[in-house]
Amino acid sequence: MTIAPLLRAIAACSLLALLPAAQGAEPVRIGLIAPFSGSFADYGKQMEGGVKAWQKLHGDTVAGRKVEIIMKDTTGPAPDVAKRLAQELVVRDKVDMLAGFGLTPEALAVAPIAEQAKKPMVIFNAASSIITTKSNYIARVSMTLPQISAPMATWAVRNNVRKVVTLVADYAPGIDAETAFKTNFIGGGGQVIESIRVPLRNPEFAPFIQRIKDAKPEAVFLFLPAGEQGVAFMKGFRERGLAQAGIRVIATGDLTDDHVLPAMGDATLGVITSFHYSMAHDSPENKAFLKAFAEANPGAGRPNFMAVAAFDGMGAIYEALKKTGGATDGDKIIGALKGMKIKSPRGPITIDPATRDVVQTVYIRKVEKVNGELYNVEFDKFAEVKDSGK
Ligand code: PHB
Repeated sequence: MTIAPLLRAIAACSLLALLPAAQGAEPVRIGLIAPFSGSFADYGKQMEGGVKAWQKLHGDTVAGRKVEIIMKDTTGPAPDVAKRLAQELVVRDKVDMLAGFGLTPEALAVAPIAEQAKKPMVIFNAASSIITTKSNYIARVSMTLPQISAPMATWAVRNNVRKVVTLVADYAPGIDAETAFKTNFIGGGGQVIESIRVPLRNPEFAPFIQRIKDAKPEAVFLFLPAGEQGVAFMKGFRERGLAQAGIRVIATGDLTDDHVLPAMGDATLGVITSFHYSMAHDSPENKAFLKAFAEANPGAGRPNFMAVAAFDGMGAIYEALKKTGGATDGDKIIGALKGMKIKSPRGPITIDPATRDVVQTVYIRKVEKVNGELYNVEFDKFAEVKDSGK
């Protein structure tokens, strides 16, 4: 036997040996941790809806590997539960990546596990600035509170708002929002006459709303985590006649999140917010997203920014897996995520290669009725905004 046919035979054998391996490749397992029950249940549901919308458009296989999502309910805010779930996902379920994270305290509790196990952790919402500094394996595709709040302050001073009371939820994202707003508002010549912090759980808004009324500001700047609290605040704001007293609401878009906006009613008309996503954003990518979300989640109602972040997070993970040829090694995946550009339903986004945090356009919007329904209508914007909190 001459050497050439021998080499050909060896090559054929090794090719054959590869085939069954590729066909029987293990799925890529992603552990999605978020609240799916309790007062923040909507966070998990929105994320699940976004994942389904992505897979509806792009399938459940990438780089020859099936993508399996294992969803876990923190019942949160419950950092201890989030931590235990992450441990179980890594050790028992052998996940390749962690994703989700609606609430900052839960993301912070899981960060050391991602770091130790070298598992990429893709944040679909949790938005206090510090999170991405807690492990080199964390990347964020949602937003940060400083990123959103600073443009609101800049817009307010440019539009002759001079005297403001701030009200934020008393935990890391709230403190971030208050700090960034104050720095930029006072830096621009505005005055913050009072800063109020309310508990994260079950705040009773009536006394705080009275304090705002008594302080007689031109506007109240607000950050509350998306959901029930915003509804409660706007109800109190209406009942105590703050609008009639000439007080405007300016807020991060968590307040008028697209999912709860219809339930908040006409008291929200004219509320100005800064945010990275509105359902009313006019682009082909957003139209495709809205259609896929509706088809993949019948009866779920409107998607919000958490659904979009989950959709983009899946997009980022698929793109990273394409780049690594299906390899899930933590360093390779994070390497692939750094500097990634995505055409999101919200507009173009980049994962900053230096910080692994999202860079994006922040829009100024106003609640208006379009065809009889309430929407956040974008009318101004700040391009390529980075997190300014670190
Ligand atoms: C957070 O806990 O990081 C968080 C939760 C809800 C939001 C924004 C931030 O709307």
